[in-house]
Amino acid sequence: MTYRSGYGFPAEVIWDRQRMERLFARKWFFAGMRGDVPNKRDYLKFQLFDEEYFLIHGNDGVIRCYVNRCAHQSARLVKGEAGRCAARIVCPNHQWAFDPNSGQVVHASFMPEGFVGSRECDEFGLTEIPLREAGLMLFACLGDAAPENEMDLIVETIAPYMDPFAKAGHGYKQAYHHREILDASWLMAMLNNRECCHCAQNHKRLLSLFDPSSFNGEHTPDYKARLKAAQARWEDKGLAWQEQAFNTSENIRISRYPMGEGFKSQTFDGELASQKLIGPFVDGEADEGTLSFWLNPNAWVHFVSDHIIANWILPLSENKCAFYTSWIVHEDAVEDVDYTAEHMKEVWLVTNAEDVGLCQSMTEGARSRYYKPGPFAPPEQFCTQFADWYMKASL
Ligand code: FES
Ligand SMILES: [Fe+2]
Repeated sequence: MTYRSGYGFPAEVIWDRQRMERLFARKWFFAGMRGDVPNKRDYLKFQLFDEEYFLIHGNDGVIRCYVNRCAHQSARLVKGEAGRCAARIVCPNHQWAFDPNSGQVVHASFMPEGFVGSRECDEFGLTEIPLREAGLMLFACLGDAAPENEMDLIVETIAPYMDPFAKAGHGYKQAYHHREILDASWLMAMLNNRECCHCAQNHKRLLSLFDPSSFNGEHTPDYKARLKAAQARWEDKGLAWQEQAFNTSENIRISRYPMGEGFKSQTFDGELASQKLIGPFVDGEADEGTLSFWLNPNAWVHFVSDHIIANWILPLSENKCAFYTSWIVHEDAVEDVDYTAEHMKEVWLVTNAEDVGLCQSMTEGARSRYYKPGPFAPPEQFCTQFADWYMKASL
């Protein structure tokens, strides 16, 4: 069956792992936030297909991405989901050590004298993959020929929205991180993320944070008035709010819109999740708005006055994917003083669990021998955008 724009993927595309691998070798994908590795030598691991990688904040302040494999006898170098290395990355197997800035071997146990620093030794440094920063976000690419111009456009498109956060004069740190392996196709998970037609029935608690007309259908007069007032307020503060709907860069949708009346954060009670406000927001002046980014191929990130919620999904195979969520706060915020786990995490843990059920269910249905691609409804236009984009980018 051939692909038709406006319809789901043909079965042979859904189960085509090589096609997925081609995409991740050509496109910049979201790999985390700078706040996930805020201090020198902090690392964060992630999996993509059969490989394990880690981001590491170098002693020089630059964040890099390496394959999690020692060049001596292939042991994993870093353990756990996240952590902090010593001054050098030391392999737990035979204690070879690597410079986190260059990936080069700086100690090779039991090797003859003169090996470290030799030409031969140069071949056995860590394998690095391209990583670039766009404001506070980190993007990686598996291919050696990562398209720099595409990344330049991502940086440029994001900058007016992100700069008030990225250049606020304070740092960010990860408050919490959650990861889950889903028995779901990454493509199904992305389609689920690109529409809100499932929200009214499946995210009743999430919707209590927002005006329903902010998502689907016609804006009510009341919401229109609030949106207009909010845009005037953002303009006064120098905050960009113009909608980007994958038009400037085909990789990015950006929307800034008001949450429900009186909501200061993305929490079920509407109260701040962290007492230390971030970016352009100063204490006592939390904004009712949320700034949201939807990124191709794999992420959606929400900025509110007191924290950032980053969600991203990476395929492990054609029918399994890893779902990551980070809650990022002001570097000075203190757990159990300024924020608590349950209050901060609840909205997205609840919402994502609801989506996980749907993504797994869609994947099961797509395995049916009766499967055929269904049509996207008009408010599912970003599913069409994603599917068109994927078909072209993974060819
Ligand atoms: S496998 Fe890493 S030091 Fe031997
Ligand atoms: Fe959802």
